Amino acid sequence: ESTLMTARPRILITRAIFPEVVQRLSEHFDVEANQADAIWTPAELAARLADKDGAFTTGSQRIDAALLAACPRLRIVANMAVGYNNFDVEALTRAGVQGTNTPDVLTETTADFGFALLMATARRMAEAEHYLRAGQWTTWRYDLLAGADIHASTLGILGMGRIGQGIARRGAHGFGMNVIYHNRTRLNAATEAQCRARYVSKDELLRSADHLVLVLPYTAEAHHTIGAPELAQMKPSATLVNIARGGIVDDAALAEALRQRRIAAAGLDVFEGEPQVHPALLDLPNVVLTPHIASATVPTRRAMADLAADNLIAFLGGRGALTPVNT
Ligand code: DGY
Repeated sequence: ESTLMTARPRILITRAIFPEVVQRLSEHFDVEANQADAIWTPAELAARLADKDGAFTTGSQRIDAALLAACPRLRIVANMAVGYNNFDVEALTRAGVQGTNTPDVLTETTADFGFALLMATARRMAEAEHYLRAGQWTTWRYDLLAGADIHASTLGILGMGRIGQGIARRGAHGFGMNVIYHNRTRLNAATEAQCRARYVSKDELLRSADHLVLVLPYTAEAHHTIGAPELAQMKPSATLVNIARGGIVDDAALAEALRQRRIAAAGLDVFEGEPQVHPALLDLPNVVLTPHIASATVPTRRAMADLAADNLIAFLGGRGALTPVNT
C-alpha cells in the first residue's frame, strides 16, 4: 500500500463541462465536479476549495485574496477563458498560486463572431427578423430597414491582440475595409502589413471608424473606456461592437447615445453586471444583444476545456503550466 498511489491531487471543477473532460481529469485526479451546474456563493466555493490542490474555473467565479486565504492547499486555478479579469492576479501570485487561461484556441472563432455581430448590427438583422415575425412586412419600401455598408467602410479596432488581428484580417482581406486600430503598444510592421491595419490615436479611431469593435482585456484602467465623451466623438452613422467585457462600455451612456441616435447602432455580447442587461438597452431597436457567446462553437468550447484540463494535468504533474497568466 503505497502512499504515492493514494496521494492523487484533488481538484474542483466549478461548473458543468463536457463529460469527456471530467472523465479525462478523473484519470489524473480525485475530482469533485459540478455537473448539476449549481451556482455557488463565494462562501460555498471557498468551502469546496478548502481541501483542493487545483481548480477548474470559468469567468463566473471570482478568485480573490479572501478566497485564496481559505484555500491553503490550492496551487493552480485553470480558467476556461482567455480573459481572466475574474482573477486577482496579484493575490494569486502573493499566495503562490498559478493562474492559467485559454488563449489561441478561441481566437478565430471569436473573431468570426465579432464579424458576425458587426454585420448583424450594421445590416439590422435582428430588427429585420423581428419585423418579419411580427407580421409587419406588407410591401417593399425604399428605406425599409436600410443600414450601413460594411465593404469598403472604415473598420476601427480597439485592442489589437490575437482576436483584434483576426477581425482586422477578415475586414481587410474579406471585405476590402480600411482598417485602423489603437492599442497600448503598436504592432510591428510585418503584423500591421498582414492585417492591413494602420495605427492611429484613440481620438482618431473614435472619429474615423464607421464600425468600431472593442477587443481589449478588461482591467481597472479599461473601465468605461467608452463612455459619453467617447460616444460623442463617434460618427452619428457609426456602429459599436463589444465582444470584450462588460464594464469597458458605460452601458447607461451607450443606451442614451443610441436612443438619441448620436450613434446608429450597437452589437453587444457582454454587459456590465451580466447576466443582467441594462433595461434601457432592452427597450431599443438599434442594438443587437447576445448572451456572451463569442467563443461558443462546439469544437472551440471543447478545445478551451481541454486546454484548461491540460494546464491542470501538466502543472500538478510537476511539468509547469502551459498557458500561465502569472509566473
Ligand atoms: C473568454 O474566453 O474570455 C470568454 O469571455 C469566455 O467564454
